[in-house]
Amino acid sequence: MKHFLDIHTTSAADLRAMIDSAHAMKTARQGRPKGTPDDDQPLKGHMVALIFEKPSTRTRVSFDVGVRQLGGETMVLSGKEMQLGHGETIADTARVLSRYVDLIMIRTFEEQTLLEMAEHATVPVINGLTNRTHPCQIMADIQTYEEHRGSIAGKKVVWAGDGNNVCASFLHAAGQFGFDFTFTGPQTLDPEPEWLGFARSKGVSVAVERDPAKAVADADLIVTDTWVSMHDPESAKERRHNQLRPYQVNEDLMAKAKPDALFMHCLPAHRNDEATSAVMDGPHSVIFDEAENRLHAQKAILRWCLGR
Ligand code: CP
Ligand code: NVA
Repeated sequence: MKHFLDIHTTSAADLRAMIDSAHAMKTARQGRPKGTPDDDQPLKGHMVALIFEKPSTRTRVSFDVGVRQLGGETMVLSGKEMQLGHGETIADTARVLSRYVDLIMIRTFEEQTLLEMAEHATVPVINGLTNRTHPCQIMADIQTYEEHRGSIAGKKVVWAGDGNNVCASFLHAAGQFGFDFTFTGPQTLDPEPEWLGFARSKGVSVAVERDPAKAVADADLIVTDTWVSMHDPESAKERRHNQLRPYQVNEDLMAKAKPDALFMHCLPAHRNDEATSAVMDGPHSVIFDEAENRLHAQKAILRWCLGR
């Protein structure tokens, strides 16, 4: 069973193959209307369940369109409207869904929900974001970096802001794709030590630098994300904003990186909080390519999971 649960638990060779496949599928579709099926239909006759316990725009639409381009069909399920939301166990839900569908993608809160789903499902399970990680996003981000600048190996990536779930998957990617990673943000919002340790165990340089100006020196890529994630309590908003304001990605900070540095944000963004509109819409920004590449990268993940 090939589940796609996280970047650090998938082999580097398989990750590489998926990114190559994503590039190839994107190239093959160039100039075609989005609704046309791919020439290759590896998911023909396959049904994919897309479960959301949190809101989504990109993940929901890109998986839905991607499955259809590959010839399959989808059903989008809201966690709240399922018996899951009324106390049916994850294990029973996984066993039941496995009788109907060929693959399950789930966006959830606790990582444990994802892991239980994978343990009890008899079909592949894909992580569409948990409180701890967001691997599909970072696969799209690696594809995006490569299409703009070539290999990311040996480059310097700086994460500015909250050491959250998206940051975690970037750290996993640093280890698996071999790039250096600097985190800059307040100590209370540092990435989990386990994730810093994973990247370090793979031999890449991992730094924590409280001064954002120092952190971005020689950066090839600056990445940020929302200051308040979907799982963060609303009551933490003001404190987080106060702590994170010095780490805003603005034109001044961008100018301290390499002249050809890229800027990424997984979106949705709170414009002029974590990043200014001048940066988001400026010459370094590749944010909408990242969003597009969710489609291509996830099609590669779907094919890998189903062995097609
Ligand atoms: N980046 C991302 O996962 O966006 P959505 O929350 O819209 O799916
Ligand atoms: N860190 C954000 C990412 C959204 C795609 C969140 O978890 O809400």
